[in-house]
Amino acid sequence: MKPETSVAAALMTAHPAGPLRGRVRAPGDKSISHRALILGALANGETLIEGLLEAEDVRRTAGAMRAFGATVERLAEGRWRVTGRGVLTEPYDVIDCGNAGTGARLIMGAAAGFPLCASFTGDDSLRGRPMKRVLGPLGQMGARWLCRQGGRLPLTLSGGDLTAIAYRLPEPSAQVKSAILLAGLRAKGLTCITEPDPTRDHTERMLRAFGAQVDVEDSPQGRVIQLHGGQALTGALITVPGDPSSAAFPLVAALITPGSEITVEGVLLNQLRAGIFETLIEMGADLTIHDTREDGGERVGDITARHSALVGVKVPPARAVSMIDEYPILAVAAAFARGPTVMRGIGELRVKESDRIALMARALEACGVTVEEEPEGLIVVGAAGANHPVRGGAPLVSHGDHRVAMSGLVLGLAAREAVTVDSADMIATSFPGFAALMGSLGARLERA
Ligand code: S3P
Repeated sequence: MKPETSVAAALMTAHPAGPLRGRVRAPGDKSISHRALILGALANGETLIEGLLEAEDVRRTAGAMRAFGATVERLAEGRWRVTGRGVLTEPYDVIDCGNAGTGARLIMGAAAGFPLCASFTGDDSLRGRPMKRVLGPLGQMGARWLCRQGGRLPLTLSGGDLTAIAYRLPEPSAQVKSAILLAGLRAKGLTCITEPDPTRDHTERMLRAFGAQVDVEDSPQGRVIQLHGGQALTGALITVPGDPSSAAFPLVAALITPGSEITVEGVLLNQLRAGIFETLIEMGADLTIHDTREDGGERVGDITARHSALVGVKVPPARAVSMIDEYPILAVAAAFARGPTVMRGIGELRVKESDRIALMARALEACGVTVEEEPEGLIVVGAAGANHPVRGGAPLVSHGDHRVAMSGLVLGLAAREAVTVDSADMIATSFPGFAALMGSLGARLERA
């Protein structure tokens, strides 16, 4: 049973204000930052990382890689060096991944390849999230583990002597795919993963940058990824592009705040992450993607958003995987649109940092928006057309979920009345500069 604790909530209030204007740089991509640190630790030699996201989640992964024997140094802001030894060694203490599902699951996969025993834990949210989806396949490969009921953290994993498996992902998850690939690096034989719905491919791309051979092919069953075990990695130079999941917050804020025009620079445009931009454009958003370029093996570009008259749309469920973290902020955009926005096939949202379907439904209702919650979906009925369609004015519960907290604050900027969110300190898990960046564009965010 979880003991009762009381933590003072860090409150932040978003006040309705004038137009947002200016140019900002998106913070480094969280998914790519975790992977750069982990692959750097698994590799032989030096890995130099430019643009690493210095958020709480990523710092936990940096700490974990030190605990597994790599040297991890911060050279300057966003500039980090990892010196790997080609092996992970047994950590002396429990690995605390904080709030980070990506950190926890990928590190378990990487650690499973070595003859060591490691214990993992995390904060309340991470302890509530399902780990069997990773432990199952790692167990099939030969790793052993013991965990709390329901496959929850804390857990202990012991690895080494793995045999490769062929595995079809039962739910679309880049974290599970990546954990199996990282374990597969050290397994005997050919690891073969089939994903019916292709998920973000940063691990595959980065493994290649570190010198591994990864074969990817589309088949009638889905995308098939193959990797031979026993491949050594060599340190690499990694440039981390801007995070589209973070960029979505100021961009949506500009779309819903009259008179706004902002540009977010250096945003990752990987097709497997770009579903939010496609959807917003279908809703009538004036979003222009320009100055696209190749950077560190990924396409990036600058995105300009101007205040727009949005209309509700039906988001194709097949698109969910390419925008899974963006539904909370899409729900806010939908509240300011005309007519219903139907979001289905998003059951995975219930096992993220919080139950994001339930929390966003309650938050929008509290702000006067009509919503309909489904087991695996959410319908938001926007009332654009009326003057200031969204009332706001409510204190919102974010249950320590950074993206729900940021979404609530963005809503508050364009609503009739100010919105206060709790757990504002948790925003630092993915976007520590959120309040400063929004402030530089003219937003009024105040810590209570
Ligand atoms: C991530 C994959 C997604 C996403 C998460 C980051 C990754 O999770 O929601 O924020 O970096 O691989 P799932 O793999 O659980 O879908």
